[in-house]
Parts: sequence; C-alpha cells; structure tokens
Amino acid sequence: MSGHGTPTPMTSNRCGPLSGVAEVPGDKSISHRSLILGAMAIGETKITGLLEGEDVLDTAKAMQAFGAEVVNHGGGSWSVFGVGVGGFAEPGNVIDCGNSGTGVRLIMGAMATQPITATFTGDASLNGRPMARVTDPLALFGAQTVGRKGGRLPMTIVGAADPVPVRYVVPVPSAQVKSAMLLAGLNAPGKTVIIEKEATRDHSERMLAGFGAEITVEETNEGRVITLTGRPELKPQVIVVPRDPSSAAFPVCAAIITPGSDVLVPGIGLNPTRAGLFTTLRDMGADLTYENERTEGGEPVADLRARYSPNMKGIEVPPHRAASMIDEYPVLSVVAAFATGDTLMAGVKELRVKESDRIDAMAKGLRACGVSVDEGEDWWQVTGLGPEGVPGGATCASELDHRIAMAFMVLGMAAQNPVTVDDGGPISTSFPIFEPLMGALGAKLSHG
Ligand code: S3P
Repeated sequence: MSGHGTPTPMTSNRCGPLSGVAEVPGDKSISHRSLILGAMAIGETKITGLLEGEDVLDTAKAMQAFGAEVVNHGGGSWSVFGVGVGGFAEPGNVIDCGNSGTGVRLIMGAMATQPITATFTGDASLNGRPMARVTDPLALFGAQTVGRKGGRLPMTIVGAADPVPVRYVVPVPSAQVKSAMLLAGLNAPGKTVIIEKEATRDHSERMLAGFGAEITVEETNEGRVITLTGRPELKPQVIVVPRDPSSAAFPVCAAIITPGSDVLVPGIGLNPTRAGLFTTLRDMGADLTYENERTEGGEPVADLRARYSPNMKGIEVPPHRAASMIDEYPVLSVVAAFATGDTLMAGVKELRVKESDRIDAMAKGLRACGVSVDEGEDWWQVTGLGPEGVPGGATCASELDHRIAMAFMVLGMAAQNPVTVDDGGPISTSFPIFEPLMGALGAKLSHG
C-alpha cells in the first residue's frame, strides 16, 4: 500500500568503511510466486524466508480474497492452503496491489481463465503503469477487461468461463507478461505455448515444474518456447525462498564505492537470469568475489564479498544483459558515477515503465548531485567522476519507487555531501529492513 501515507524524507551522510554481514531479505519475485502458486495448489504449501515487504503482503491479502487461506506463523514462515487450479472464489471487494506491478500482473493472469470477475487498483505509481501488455494477451484466452484510458488501473477483469489455450509471442522482454500468461494457461485445457525472444527471469517456469505442472522449455530460432499443459493438479510444496539478488545489490554497491569497506552478503541466488549486475560490476573492475559457491533448491547460490574498489572503469553494458539486471540499473548508475570514464547502458527502454521512469528519475537526481547524464529513449550514459569526485548535496525525488530511493541512499554514503530523498517510504515495498541493515554495516542514514 505504498504511496498511501505521508512522505518520509530520508538522508544518507558520507560514512566510514562499511563492514560486516548483510543478510538481505527473501526474493521478491519468488515470494509472490510462492503465494500465488500455493493458492493454486490443493493443500498446504509451507514457505520460509518469505519477503515480508508491502508488495508481497498485498499479494498475500489478494490470495485470501480469492479464497485461499494464508497463515503467517511469524519470522518469515507462512502457510498457504490452496484451492486448486480453477478454484478461485470471486473477491468481495477491490483488490489493492499497492505498488506492485508483479503482484497485479501475475494475479490478473491467475484469475483470467476462471469464471469470476475482479477489480484491481494500486497506488499512484501502479495506476500509471501500462497494463494492456498483460490484458491484451489475456483476451486471447477469452478474458474481458475494462480499464482506464491507456490500459491503466483501476481495471476490472471478467475471467473466461470457457478458456481456450493460447500461442503467444511476448513482444517485450517481461517476466511479468510471460508469467501472467503461464498462470492463465494453467486453467486452459490443452497446451499453452508462450515464446520469449529474450530470456527473462525463469522463476515461474522452475516453480511450475516444482509444483508438478507439465512444462517444457526449448531454445529455438524463434526464442525460448515454453509449453504448458493446462489443468494440472498442482501439488503443495515446501519452499525455502532464497535471498534477493536485487536487494543484495544495495549493500554490494555501497561497499564497492565506500572507502575501506568489506561486506559479506551471504546466500545470494546467482540464477543467470538475475545475476547480470554482479557480472557487470566485475567487468568494471569491482572487487566482488563469489565465496562458498553451491546449489540450493536447484539454483546456483554464493556468498558475495564486496570490497571498496577505487579503480573501476566505465564500460558499455551489453544490451543482451539488460533483462538479467533490469532492476539494478538505478544502483549501477550510482556506481558508474564513482568509476572513471563513461558507462553506457543501452537497450533499456523497459526502465521507463517501472515503478517510475527510472532513467528520468535517476538522471534528474544524479544531475542534482553534480553527475553528468546523457539519455535517449532506450539508453543512458553516466560520466564517472572517480572514487572521490561525486559532490552529492541534493534532495532527489524517489517517485514512489523503492529502488530509486535506495540508490540515492547508497550515493550519499560515498558522496562529498549528504544526499536526501523526499520519500523513503517506498523502500518498505521490497526491503523493509534496509535502514537497520545498512546502519549495522556503518551507513549513516537519518530521517528528514
Ligand atoms: C519481475 C519482473 C520484472 C522486474 C520486477 C519483477 C517478476 O518486471 O522488473 O521487479 O517478478 O516477474 P518486468 O516483467 O516488467 O520486466
């Protein structure tokens, strides 16, 4: 429900070395999917390590509204008693997904092939984001949608009573669109085929297989062809949610730019569809190592060790890497400001339709902090000022976007002057313990 409260300005002051162990919360993408797939299985799915950020809590409430029983045992341990594929009840009220594009788009997919009607809304950020990218293809299954101009929330979806299976090529690199279509395909008879030209995060595919769905993935000339057989009986699972690489990005990048730092971020998933930032930082010359590499729950995992890296060089980030680090560009642009030379980030049009227009939000705040940024529709370039050269000293707008707020807090840790964001509230959507966790490492964050 971010964005419904009073703005809480937050300031980050230049700090001494960051050190210690940063245990970041559970993965947001996997947390949403655990709740939704748990609700579509029959019986009790047990989840530990669930991210208890506002985005995920809104999805938990939504699953209850659709008839699943969701129990919070405390300490990140949850149970979902699912109603089975096709078993959703019609919600008695509007579903408020708060700030979460992932929540609303995946839930729309899950209900679109069931004979029920639901109305969705969110905060000012979510109600400004494009939903036609999901509702247009959901219409192929037989679902009907009425929304605001431009395909915006609030929006009502009338689920298909007699859904048909679909073959669909996803036109934008979006795991949310892909996942909405797969969740809808669960209750369509026969085989639904979803093709993505560029690989995006594959948690839905992995988890659907884990829940017992018949799903295959083939790499072809057309792209990744995902074939899902509809109407499976999903089996409840025991899920241990790994820590979120997108949250790990903040202590890792903070350590890399803050003189003298040495921080360990344990248990981070290095699924190749998510780990692009870490490869990029290493390409720039950051002192980032993977310790204790292992496999957990079928996913590659390591402890990340990030140390202060004063000799980083700007690079051209390969556009083909964009999907694997799409949420990490805001904080990468901060690191780029402390490198020497230009960092070019191209092929990133999707950044303009996130919780905010992330290119615009970062460019404005970085410029206010004395950093040069050039931009075009699908690219931007940051000119590095070197390890000690970033002035800071500005108030930046977080635009109801958690990752923008956290990126500017990281900037303030190593800039010459304090950096303020007008609203730190959105941070709780994905990283509710950001402030105490960074404070324990040595960051100097304050309110106001
Ligand atoms: C997500 C997909 C990405 C990402 C978002 C989480 C997911 O969005 O930005 O934070 O869990 O599927 P897009 O699908 O819009 O790229």
